[in-house]
Amino acid sequence: MIEEIKNLIARIDTFNITSQDDLEKFRLTYLSKKGSISDLFAAFRNVPPELKKETGALLNKLKEAASSKYEEHKIKLADTEESFKGDLTLPAEPLVLGSRHPVSLIRREIVNIFSKIGFTVAEGPEIEDDWHVFTGLNFPHEHPARDMQDTFFIEKDPDIVLRTHTSSVQVRVMENTKPPIRKIFPGRVFRNEAISARAHCIFHQIEGLYIDTNVSFADLKQTLMFFAREMFGEKTQIRLRPSFFPFTEPSAEMDVSCTICGGSGCNVCKYTGYLEILGCGMVDPNVLEASGIDSEKFTGFAFGMGLERTAMLKYQVNDLRLYFENDVRFINHFRSSY
Ligand code: DAH
Repeated sequence: MIEEIKNLIARIDTFNITSQDDLEKFRLTYLSKKGSISDLFAAFRNVPPELKKETGALLNKLKEAASSKYEEHKIKLADTEESFKGDLTLPAEPLVLGSRHPVSLIRREIVNIFSKIGFTVAEGPEIEDDWHVFTGLNFPHEHPARDMQDTFFIEKDPDIVLRTHTSSVQVRVMENTKPPIRKIFPGRVFRNEAISARAHCIFHQIEGLYIDTNVSFADLKQTLMFFAREMFGEKTQIRLRPSFFPFTEPSAEMDVSCTICGGSGCNVCKYTGYLEILGCGMVDPNVLEASGIDSEKFTGFAFGMGLERTAMLKYQVNDLRLYFENDVRFINHFRSSY
């Protein structure tokens, strides 16, 4: 019997297990109730007493060798695909898709509208120097117009600011591009303002710039009219009111007929029938010259609007803070609009 046990130990050692079938064969041959180890344990009763100690020790060694080989291969095979027990024909769990942020939706829509009339997109840096945000746009040093926008300055270097408007990209583009220029500049801007339903310290704007020979105020008006009707519907009316910006002359602010009442008067438009949407004007010759464009030869118009503001008018959501909190209950309202 001792020889038999030794032989079995050797065979167990060389038994090749590469599949679940092999593993089961191994278990049946050695470890099951009808397997050879069980038989040997049964036969142990008849071993003469003087051999019991040695035989018993060997039997235990045999059992231990078989069990550990079995467990080891069971774990190994469980890690391989062959042992996968799931049902591959079951349908997969649906992936819940996110939705675009309303500010992204508005930006895409505005970019699409202007691309129909030949405007392409350009971008500039959010951390800017004084020249591109103010001086190059005809804001003289120490001029009170600089106070129109509460600026975040970098303490160590007052020449560096977080841009307060995307008009800064105008200057960069004019410095690097020869007219004709027909571009829009979407981007994030920063102002040192207290957060409320109507103001935020970080928001988004789109700036537009068109420079060529013979560009007139009528072109500006037609362009903005086209935009307003594409954005808010065919019946939209626009109204231009004289205003002041250092970088445009003449300057205007544009209102659109109220998106709620259509112009007849309601509490959203405070019974005026109109809602303010953007600033615009003819690019001041000083601004053209500062960027190296001949103001005798070229004229142009510019306009700038807030994306959150436009989204508020379009979606009729009147608390600006909602656009920044990213509460999914709010964001999900825009789920179907791609
Ligand atoms: N940059 C202005 C602002 O942030 C908006 C603006 C007004 C842009 C008139 C223009 C413009 O291009 O012509 O308030």
